[in-house]
Order: sequence, then structure tokens, then C-alpha cells
Amino acid sequence: MIHALVQASYILATVLFIFALHWMNTPATARKGVYAGVAAMVVAIAVTWAQPTVVHHLWIVIAMIAGFAVGIPLAQVPLTAVPQRTALSHAFGGLAAGLVGTAKYYLWFSEGPEHLTAFRMVAIIIEIILGFLTFTGSLMAAGKLQEVKWVPQRPVTYPGQNAVNLVLFAVAIGLGAALTLHPTAVWAPTLFPAVIGLALLFGVLLIIPIGGADMPTVIAILNGYAGLAAVAMGFVLDNKLLITAGALDGSSGLILAIIMCKAMNRSFTNVLFGAFGQVQKATETGEQKSYKAETIEGAGQVLEQANLVVIIPGYGMAVAQAQHKVRELYDQLKKRGVTVKFAIHPVAGRMPGHMNVLLAEADIPYTDLVEMDEINTDMPQCDVALVVGANDVVNPAARSDKSSPIFGMPIIDADKARTVFAIKRSKNPGFAGIDNELYFGDRTWMLFGDAKGVIGELVKQLSAGSGH
Ligand code: TAP
Repeated sequence: MIHALVQASYILATVLFIFALHWMNTPATARKGVYAGVAAMVVAIAVTWAQPTVVHHLWIVIAMIAGFAVGIPLAQVPLTAVPQRTALSHAFGGLAAGLVGTAKYYLWFSEGPEHLTAFRMVAIIIEIILGFLTFTGSLMAAGKLQEVKWVPQRPVTYPGQNAVNLVLFAVAIGLGAALTLHPTAVWAPTLFPAVIGLALLFGVLLIIPIGGADMPTVIAILNGYAGLAAVAMGFVLDNKLLITAGALDGSSGLILAIIMCKAMNRSFTNVLFGAFGQVQKATETGEQKSYKAETIEGAGQVLEQANLVVIIPGYGMAVAQAQHKVRELYDQLKKRGVTVKFAIHPVAGRMPGHMNVLLAEADIPYTDLVEMDEINTDMPQCDVALVVGANDVVNPAARSDKSSPIFGMPIIDADKARTVFAIKRSKNPGFAGIDNELYFGDRTWMLFGDAKGVIGELVKQLSAGSGH
């Protein structure tokens, strides 16, 4: 009876997890999706905890307090820090899987050889290799994104690096296979930590050659690994909910990574082994290109006379928290009968959907948010492209410069608009660390300053002009 109740609750939790993912597909139902996910997790924990096999309740309470102590501050990070926050969650997930696998191995080892079946050993080896490599890999990824001092931001590469990594991984698999074949040999408990050590080392070595710009994709891949480690943990613990939840987690991570690779026109192997984002060789010949700056008044006049204005938001809008001012500008322009659209690049900002979240927060209608492919067909007819703290996602080098690290990444064709106004604070490059020809273009005018301040000034200018 209890068994049937537990299994029914697990099915309920699985269904809630699936709906959580489904509802997360659109901003209109995303909140419901979050609630469904929370409810699923509460059911999963409560039902597992209530099982009669659980005897050490105090340890569970201690673990929960520790979890809350870490989780609550993690939940309060600003949106711009969400990628590294997510990486930390994967690190914890990987560590948990690795530790459970380790504990189970030694427990079963002490209880007798019949417990360490080949099936269990395969699951344990997969669990510890994926779990521990996800742990250190995710910590490295979080450190790179958070720009922690002792973690190198730029890719660290050396000749034969991929070969070294592959050999290391092969050795870990080989030792794992030996353990699977002889799980109760006298040397087995001593060899087990060696596999853990190799997995921990592999996690670090896998991430150091990868540059910052590829980190989001790598984090999605690590999400996939953490999910697969949870699946293996489900087999080890014979827990069906862990298997399904891990599979959902793992597959959604891998699907997200594929979507992001497509958005950047890169392959998986290129992301993992391509050392993207390496410091560029100085190709500049010393020739100094110059920017043209525009005044708020001048920009205001051009904007109000436009038919179609396309606003292209990027990471800078998030940093400046300019979305509410952007909304005011949108209102001002709409009042004048100007058509205003937002061009959304899939990797604008620092996390998938970053721009959508900010614009939704400012109540900008979803219908005016246009995906990259669709808006690009309109760009030649666009009177003003207003770039708000975006850089790499509007860099024409991605289309034309084969030597550029972002070559091949689809971009929003801001340069095809009749006039481009670009808001940023300085002449500094964006995430990929490269110059942007767009800013030197004949039809581009810079509005230097913090995005919130500049847009605020534009709004003032327009509202003064209209007598409001
Ligand atoms: P970036 O290329 O990073 O450019 C952002 C620009 O915003 C910078 O050039 C910066 O110039 C400006 N900026 C920063 N703070 C500002 C402020 N307060 N006011 C005005 N401007 C400000 O951003 P992007 O075009 O959105 O491209 C995203 C990049 O991040 C891509 O390379 C992408 O691959 C990578 N990435 C994406 C994700 C995801 S999944 N979205 C995650 C991590 C990384 P100043 O310093 O001169 O102001």
C-alpha cells in the first residue's frame, strides 16, 4: 500500500516537472511553471522523507538547513549573475551525485560482494565520473563568469591539450571498467578514489581552454551532465523519480546547449574543443577610426520623425536596468504613431531569455518582441536602429570577417538600418572582447553614457517636445 502511494506520488511529481518545463515555454505561463516545479520538488522530498526506510531524520534536517543557507542567498543574486549562479547549482548537483555514488559503493562493499552487481557498478561509475567532473567543471565555469581573480578568464591552451584530456578521460573510464569487473577485489576500495580524482581533474581541464563567450553553452552542457549523473544516481538508489527528473534535467540542458550552439552557428565540438574567445592577435595597423557622437536633441528629432524604430537591447540594458526607461521611450514613440519593435537576439545579455525577462518586467507587449530572423528581413526598411547596450550581437564582423572569433554567429543586422544610434558608456568592447565596425559606420552615431541615463534624457526630450 505504502509502496503504491509512493509510486503514485512520484508519478504526480514527474507530471508536475513536465508541466513546469512546458509552461516555462512562454512568459505568459512561466510563473505557473515555476510553481509547478516547486510543488513537484516538495512532493518528491516529502514522499521520499516519509518512507519507513529513512531513519536518520536529524541528518536530513541538518542537510535541509544547509541547503536553505546556501539556496536563499543564491536566489537573490541579480539577473546578470544568473549564469554563474546556475553553474553553482550544477556544481552542487554533481557533487551530490558523486558523493551518493561513493557512499553507496563503500556501503555495499562492506555489506558483501552480492550487492555490487555489474549493473550497479556501471551506474556508480557513470555517476561518480559525471558527478565529480560536473562539480569541478561547474565551479570553474562559475569562477570564470564571476571573474574570480585566481580563475583565468581567457582560454588556457597548450599543444596537445585535447589529446591529454582525452587520454585522462580514457584512463578514468578504464579504471572504472576495472572496478566494474572486480568491484570487491582488495585493491578496489583504493582504486575508487583514483577515479574520483581523475574525474575532478578532468572537470577542471575540460573548462580551462574554453573562453568566457562560450561559458553559457558550456553551462547548459554541464546541466546535461548533472542530469545524466542524477539518472545514474536514480539507478543506484533504485528511485524512479530521480531517473525521470534527471532525464528531464539532462535532456533540457542538452537541448538548450544545442539551441545556443545554433544561435551562435557553432558546433558542440567547436565549443568544447575550439578554445573560442582566445586573446586576439593585434591585427590593427595603428590606423585610428573615429566615432561620431550625437546629441540627445539630434537623436530625439530623428526618432520622432521615424516610421519604424527597432530597439536592439543587449547586456548593457541589463547592467543599467534601463528597461523601465526603455518602456517610457516606447510609449513616447508610440504616441507619435511610430512603429516600435524590439529585436531579440537569442544570446543577447548573459542568459537565455535575458532580454525577454527584462522587457516583460517593464510590461512591453510580447507582440512587439521580434526574433532575430524575422526582424532581419525588416532592417533595410528600418529608419532607426537604437542599440541599447548591445555589442557582439550586432557586430557585422560575424558576417564578414573570417578571422573574427564570432565569425558565423548570426547577428541582428543593425548596420542595414538607415540610421543607427548606439548607446554605451565607453569605447570598450563587449563580451567577446572585440571591436565593432558598426560603431564606425557612416550611418552610426554614438550616444555615450549609461543606458538608463541616456534613454531617460531622450524621454525628457521627447516629452518636452510634445508638451507632455
Ligand atoms: P555585449 O557584447 O557583452 O556588449 C554589451 C555592451 O553593453 C558593452 O559593449 C558595454 O559597453 C555596454 N554596457 C555595459 N554596461 C552598460 C551601461 N550601464 N549602459 C550602457 N551600456 C552598457 O552584449 P550583447 O551584445 O548582449 O552580447 C552578448 C554577449 O554575451 C555575446 O557575446 C554572447 O555570446 C555572450 N553571452 C551570452 C549569454 C546568453 S545565453 N545570453 C551568456 C553569457 C555570455 P560599455 O562598457 O562601453 O558601456
